[in-house]
Amino acid sequence: MKVLNCYSLKGGVGKTSTSINLATVAARQGWRVLLLDLDPQGASSFLLRHDSQEGQGLGDLLKRQRPDLFEMVRGTNIERLEVLPYNDRTRLLDSEISEIRSFRSNAKKSIQALSTRYDLIIIDSPPTADNVLKFQLAVADLTLLLSTPSPLAVRATLEYVYNLREKFKSPPMFRTTLQMVEKRSKYHQELLLELRKMETLQLTETVIPRSSLIETMALDRTPVVVSHPRSVVSQRFESLWLELDLMS
Ligand SMILES: Nc1ncnc2c1ncn2[C@@H]1O[C@H](COP(=O)(O)OP(=O)(O)OP(=O)(O)O)[C@@H](O)[C@H]1O
Ligand SMILES: [Mg+2]
Repeated sequence: MKVLNCYSLKGGVGKTSTSINLATVAARQGWRVLLLDLDPQGASSFLLRHDSQEGQGLGDLLKRQRPDLFEMVRGTNIERLEVLPYNDRTRLLDSEISEIRSFRSNAKKSIQALSTRYDLIIIDSPPTADNVLKFQLAVADLTLLLSTPSPLAVRATLEYVYNLREKFKSPPMFRTTLQMVEKRSKYHQELLLELRKMETLQLTETVIPRSSLIETMALDRTPVVVSHPRSVVSQRFESLWLELDLMS
């Protein structure tokens, strides 16, 4: 089982849109996928047609209270894709994690317990840097950093990458993908060329274009790779999934 963590410290840069589309692409290719909605905004739960619910949450799994997490998991309209929707407890996850001893090794074990049922877990992350992020980094095989081609977003991403290098002896595996890139923007294209030269960012070849189809996903609550499979943006999500190469 692989764990892909979609993260950025900056809000609104496309974590949720990327998470649910990559999850859908993987599920359609035969992976059994769980999307873990760790964001109290609950956007990916909403887009996959689930609203907040009550009950146990990820914190219980981490504290080894043997919750039946599988009871919390919900199916979606997409075969092989399930979601652990945001619930009221998600907001408490940060403080719950701080109470757990030897949290990193517990986190890894608890998540591995899900491998009987899933081949891939995709985490839709909140734009925060707290204990929840520590959890994400502890369990992820790969962190996908999302950034828009704007100076502030790129700056936040670079700072984060430097932090990772400082904090960890062997930094977690990561890649960076640019989201909402405009083909006709000279500025975006020039910035892209500059960023491609920066090895620090581990930029993916694939960039996700700005597309109004993504914005309307909130209306029909269907991933764009399902509603508009032949669109450029859908093809890019497919290329990105291939490029991340989680199979190996
Ligand atoms: N490629 C795109 N083209 C156009 N709009 C996009 C694209 N990707 C995301 N958006 C829009 O940008 C907004 C933010 O996207 P999204 O919710 O995916 O970001 P996020 O990083 O998850 O945000 P948050 O930090 O609040 O969780 C949404 O309105 C979404 O529809
Ligand atoms: Mg989001």
